[in-house]
Amino acid sequence: MSKATLIVDDCINIEDYITRKSGDVILTDPPYGTGQVHALGCYSYDDVLNGKGYIEYMTDRLAQIKTCMHNSALLVVHLDINNCYEIASVIQRKLGLYLNGDFVWAYRRWSSKKNSLQSNHDLISVFSSDQSLRMGRRILPVSIVAPSSCERVGYPTQKPMKLISRVLTELTTVCDVRRVIDPFCGSGSTLLAAARLGMDTIGMDRAVDAIDVCEERLRLEGFQPVRVMQNRLIESEKNHSARRIA
Ligand SMILES: C[S@@+](CC[C@H](N)C(=O)[O-])C[C@H]1O[C@@H](n2cnc3c(N)ncnc32)[C@H](O)[C@@H]1O
Repeated sequence: MSKATLIVDDCINIEDYITRKSGDVILTDPPYGTGQVHALGCYSYDDVLNGKGYIEYMTDRLAQIKTCMHNSALLVVHLDINNCYEIASVIQRKLGLYLNGDFVWAYRRWSSKKNSLQSNHDLISVFSSDQSLRMGRRILPVSIVAPSSCERVGYPTQKPMKLISRVLTELTTVCDVRRVIDPFCGSGSTLLAAARLGMDTIGMDRAVDAIDVCEERLRLEGFQPVRVMQNRLIESEKNHSARRIA
């Protein structure tokens, strides 16, 4: 059975938990730099940074996240149109990775009187240290998680399982995906999709509420997620500590 591990912490501390170079795919959906608090029912999370502050925040965290990618691992980042190009530029210039391709999540929204040019797609971009990997651009038409959907868990900006499953399945055609890490995991859509596909998964979120939701979603489907104590290298990884680079 897939192993699922959950961590409550800021992902800037990812190296305290995850052995260097041990992840095959980092698939994540970080805050988008909207300058808002995203709230829905009893859950909310801050996305209050924007502009330069947001780019610096993401740069620092992406640099730490990169430490857990092995040499042929993929970094797959989901962003909306506002900051996706700037973050792609940071990943290429500061982290030294190449842009290999992207998935375009095409969705429909209810029309708004305020904004006639509402966004109807997000980019999920794929980066790696392999310049020769060319994945091109794939359009994935998938509906957002509707308020009435039985999939909905009440966490703001929850992503559809169908979308994440499609992305992970496509990634298996270009790399051997045994372990998927989501350092901004929210309600755990990435973790659940990975576990359903038989992959091991690690989720991290600074909000304990988010990790509680992840745990419940995974348990409901028969997985047995393990929570890791603060600042502890994941137990099963101690055997691999020789792979850690000092
Ligand atoms: C866009 S949401 C993820 C939603 C998720 N994909 C889902 O389907 O539910 C971003 C998440 O990142 C978390 N977050 C923000 N900054 C963080 C940080 N520095 N470290 C870890 N988690 C963080 C927020 O608490 C929020 O849950």
